[in-house]
Amino acid sequence: MNKKSLNILSAVVVGSLLFFTSCGSGAPKDDSSKSAAVEEAAQTTTEAVAADVDEKYAVGKKIYDEKCVVCHQADAKGLTGAFPPLANSDYLLKDPKRGIHQTLNGSHEEMIVNGVTYNAPMVPQVDTKEEALAVINYVLNNFGNDGGELTMDDITDIEIAPRDN
Ligand code: HEC
Repeated sequence: MNKKSLNILSAVVVGSLLFFTSCGSGAPKDDSSKSAAVEEAAQTTTEAVAADVDEKYAVGKKIYDEKCVVCHQADAKGLTGAFPPLANSDYLLKDPKRGIHQTLNGSHEEMIVNGVTYNAPMVPQVDTKEEALAVINYVLNNFGNDGGELTMDDITDIEIAPRDN
């Protein structure tokens, strides 16, 4: 058999398999097991991506888990009205550099995040620009955020405010 007829044959086989699975009497059952399989594959992919992010941004993840999680929560969705979200935060994503500044120097001003007003103090969270970059870059690449990354060059003009203590 030459290559062309082999291709046609496999097209016919695949075609009839599709036909039978979609039109057979067990169709609803097949469909549900099919979507379960698709879901499982998607889940595995999501977990693999999450594992990559955790590895790549290990330093930032550690800081997040130690310092930010109490207020901004494990899923970074915050607590509505008290602690603003870092997941899909329109406020953070609009100006991530400001987020670095806030992580280093704290923040106490009225802000609207995803339509909700917040105005509670956040004290400085980290002492170095490296830590602030690490944790913000982790946040930008996790929790459903689309990514992006700041570098030291982007934040040369950020000053670390003198600490009270
Ligand atoms: C004690 C609670 C608390 C902790 C811990 C905390 N935050 Fe916050 N965070 C807040 C509050 C409250 C605000 C709102 C501040 C304001 O109104 O000025 C805020 C605001 C922010 C914002 C800007 C608003 C937004 O949602 O985009 C960023 C960015 C941020 N925090 C990052 C962090 C990071 C990173 C950490 C960990 C290194 C952290 N925060 C730890 C309470 C906290």
